[in-house]
Amino acid sequence: MNWFTKAFTSTLGRKLVMALTGLFLCLFLVVHVSGNFQLFKDDGGFSFNMYSVFMTHNPLIKTVSYLLYATFIIHIIQSLLLTIYNKKARPQGYVKNSPDKNSAWSSRNMGILGTIILVFLVFHMKDFWWEYHNGEMPKAKYVEFVQDGEHKTMTDTLWQSYVEEIKKKMAASGGAYDPKISEYKQVIYKDLYAEVAEEFKEPAIVILYLIAMIALAFHLLHGFQSAWQSLGVNHRKYVPVIKTIGWFFSIAITAGFAAMPLYFFLK
Ligand code: HEM
Repeated sequence: MNWFTKAFTSTLGRKLVMALTGLFLCLFLVVHVSGNFQLFKDDGGFSFNMYSVFMTHNPLIKTVSYLLYATFIIHIIQSLLLTIYNKKARPQGYVKNSPDKNSAWSSRNMGILGTIILVFLVFHMKDFWWEYHNGEMPKAKYVEFVQDGEHKTMTDTLWQSYVEEIKKKMAASGGAYDPKISEYKQVIYKDLYAEVAEEFKEPAIVILYLIAMIALAFHLLHGFQSAWQSLGVNHRKYVPVIKTIGWFFSIAITAGFAAMPLYFFLK
């Protein structure tokens, strides 16, 4: 059996795959929550929409997206296989072992927590990802131009005041001031910001997101520490450090995400 087959069939190999895919997903969460912070900018969604255009059109990011989908699928399938294998190997063992005394609540409920996250992901992908790529989206009108060799994009309203500013400068200089604007055009982008704002006006959706973020917090709390253990980082010196980072990571990531539906709901 080669190392590749072992990684997907032996318990140790499966744990290793769970750890590596889990840590990659943690990295994705950091990027996703940081990017989505653009939602809090008070600019009518301009920054968030431009960020979405960049994320969906950059060839490198598009390639990493496919790796991300594959990682999610491998992580889910491996977790199911590990659960089935563990149940088969120890049919009644846990009853005698008093699991509630021996392990944390989150570690004994990783399957339930993972299932809640999976249900959330199906809704989430349908509402945002599928709508963005295939659905009828609201549209946002922006202006693109080149000024002095620099490409600029701005909202229609900002452009109006920009033009007023240029006119004033031209008048003040007696017509000598040249703004050096070329390639002016109006562009229409998908208004993902408006879609997100609309979704989070719905109380049922906000509640679903909050429940999912609580489940994600507990899932990460155990998953983060467990991943490092599977990778062999279990020295007495490092375990408390990893635990502390795990706590901070789980709370910071999920609080950041949870703030988004709450922000739009209360706005
Ligand atoms: C609660 C706050 C969240 C908001 C506002 C949000 C928003 C979005 C939006 C607007 C998109 C579509 C953008 C695109 O297709 O490029 C998206 C995609 C996605 N989201 Fe979220 N998200 C949130 C939380 C989460 C969480 C907690 C997870 C994972 C557990 C997640 C996983 C994903 C995935 C896998 C995609 C597809 C990414 C891709 O195609 O590259 N999101 N999200």
